Amino acid sequence: SKPVKVGICGLGTVGSGTFNVLTRNAQAINARAQGELEITVVGARRDNPACDLGDTRVTRDIFEVARDPEVDVLVELIGGTTVARDLVTEALTNGKHVVTANKALIAEFGNELFALAEQNNVVIRYEAAVAGGIPIIKALREGLAGNRIEWLAGIINGTGNFILSEMREKGRDFADVLAEAQALGYAEADPTFDVEGIDAAHKLVILASLAFGMPLQFSSVYAEGITRLTTQDVEYAEELGYRIKHLGVAKQSDEGVELRVHPTLIPESRLLANVNGVKNAVLVEGDAVGPTLYYGAGAGAEPTASAVVADIVDLARELGAGQQCRVPALGFATDALQDLPI
Ligand code: HSE
Repeated sequence: SKPVKVGICGLGTVGSGTFNVLTRNAQAINARAQGELEITVVGARRDNPACDLGDTRVTRDIFEVARDPEVDVLVELIGGTTVARDLVTEALTNGKHVVTANKALIAEFGNELFALAEQNNVVIRYEAAVAGGIPIIKALREGLAGNRIEWLAGIINGTGNFILSEMREKGRDFADVLAEAQALGYAEADPTFDVEGIDAAHKLVILASLAFGMPLQFSSVYAEGITRLTTQDVEYAEELGYRIKHLGVAKQSDEGVELRVHPTLIPESRLLANVNGVKNAVLVEGDAVGPTLYYGAGAGAEPTASAVVADIVDLARELGAGQQCRVPALGFATDALQDLPI
């Protein structure tokens, strides 16, 4: 079969990680995709020393990738909701499938973008948008598809969890740890998204839509961050046998759905209390399966790339087989999504 042609837009932390993983693991990736994946073009305003592009074609105009008739799959790793939204819109309109790690874009504009994708008979895949390398989207959409999901709760911001862990383990200062998280490429371009709970709220609304079968309603999430916590709060919690963790919680009941992100006290014996550093963990309770737990790196170049590449492989399998992808963006048939009260 013909190679599946991929255009990567954005060569920051995740973009360079994706290029490197695709290149390094090409053999296994092609075997899993049952065909050849080719990086046809990279769109980036500047090069990244973390990534040796070799003789890969590069354009400084990312929109060229969305217009390139060669490209089957556009991988959006620009971030933000302005240029990225225009880029994805143009790619979908031009009949390209889209893979993105952009939680803000999906949480805030997912409903319109999914509809546009459907109109154009293409799909948007966003495994990397939530919990970095943990395949939580696929778990909710596919692995747990037989369940009524009762609730889910998770540590879904790696930067925030890194800050709280370092404050507890080493008594470090909030601002100092945040600066380190930025240097390590964990934090958002605007780190207030991490520490004010906005990033976690973006991710929670995506998880809730997949779990409960409802349209994305980002503005309805109650969001509180970790900025008001002090080293003393963390120490007092510890003396009482608790850890402070920033959680996203989504619950379904007869009255509707509860969506909230905020710091919580968790008894130190619980698994979630022992998730430290940049790790994320999500607990999902389904009526058939009972409680399930997903754990792993929540941010960083290659963990996030791991999820991006998984989506590319999924698409390549279908494209290579000449199939039209029939997995709906939120797992439920679009016309079956219910506007549950929040
Ligand atoms: N800034 C995010 C985090 C990156 O720290 O979790 C991964 O989405």
